[in-house]
Amino acid sequence: MLLVIISGATRAKNQSNTAKIIEAFRKGYESKGHTTEVWYLADRSQWEMARAAFYKNDNILFALPLYVENIPGSMLEFLETIEKKKEAGTKIAFLLQGGFPEASQLRCCETYLETLPAMLGCEYAGTLLKGDMFGLSLVDDKQRVKALQPFEEMGKRFAKTHSFNKEEVNQFAGPEFFPKGVLRGFHLIGRHIQRIFMNKIAKSLGCKQKLDVRPYGHI
Ligand SMILES: Cc1cc2nc3c(=O)[nH]c(=O)nc-3n(C[C@H](O)[C@H](O)[C@H](O)COP(=O)(O)O)c2cc1C
Repeated sequence: MLLVIISGATRAKNQSNTAKIIEAFRKGYESKGHTTEVWYLADRSQWEMARAAFYKNDNILFALPLYVENIPGSMLEFLETIEKKKEAGTKIAFLLQGGFPEASQLRCCETYLETLPAMLGCEYAGTLLKGDMFGLSLVDDKQRVKALQPFEEMGKRFAKTHSFNKEEVNQFAGPEFFPKGVLRGFHLIGRHIQRIFMNKIAKSLGCKQKLDVRPYGHI
C-alpha cells in the first residue's frame, strides 16, 4: 500500500527534525512491503504535487513539528487550500513531534488534529506523539540513530493497521509529566548543565553573546 507523507515542517528538509523522523518512520513502514512518497511543504514548489497526491490517495500521514502549542502556520495555510473530499474512504494519521519532553505539551495540538480529518472529508487514523526532539539535528550521528530507532519501530507497527493505537502512542510518548523529584533535580543541577549546552550550541551557530544577555535591560 502507498502511504503519502506530507511534512508540515517549515525548515528546509536538510535542517528539519521532522524530515529525519520521516526517514526513520518510512524505513520501518517500507520494510513491511509497502511504499511511500514524501512531500515537503517547506518547499512551496511542492504544494501543487502534495495537493494532487492528497486528492488521489486514501492513505495519508501528515508529519509536523509543534509550533507554539499547535501546527505551523504554513501548514495551516496549505490546509486552507485543500478542498474537502467528496468520496469517503481516506484515512489521515499524524506524526507530531516537539521540543519539550513532556507529552502533555503535545495534547492541545493532538485535540485539534483529532478534528481535522472530518473537516477534509476524511477519517482520523490517530496521532503519534513525541517530545524532546529539539536536539535531534544537534547531536552526533550515534545519538541521532538511537533517538530515531523507535520511529522506525513505529513505522513497522503502523504498517499493520495503517493507524496509530492510542494506548501504544501514550506509551511511546511518555512521560506525560515529569515526577516532582526529576523537576527538583532539574532546578538544582540540570538547568545549569543545559545552559552550558545551549550556550555552546548558540556559539557554534555564530551567536557572539550569552543567550540571557539583556542589551536593553537598563531601559
Ligand atoms: C517557532 C517555534 C515554536 C516552537 N514551539 C514549540 C512548542 O510550543 N512546544 C514544543 O514542545 N516545541 C516547540 N518548538 C520546538 C520544535 O517543535 C522542535 O524543535 C522540532 O523538533 C522542530 O522540528 P523541525 O526541525 O522539523 O522544524 C518550537 C520551535 C519553533 C522554531
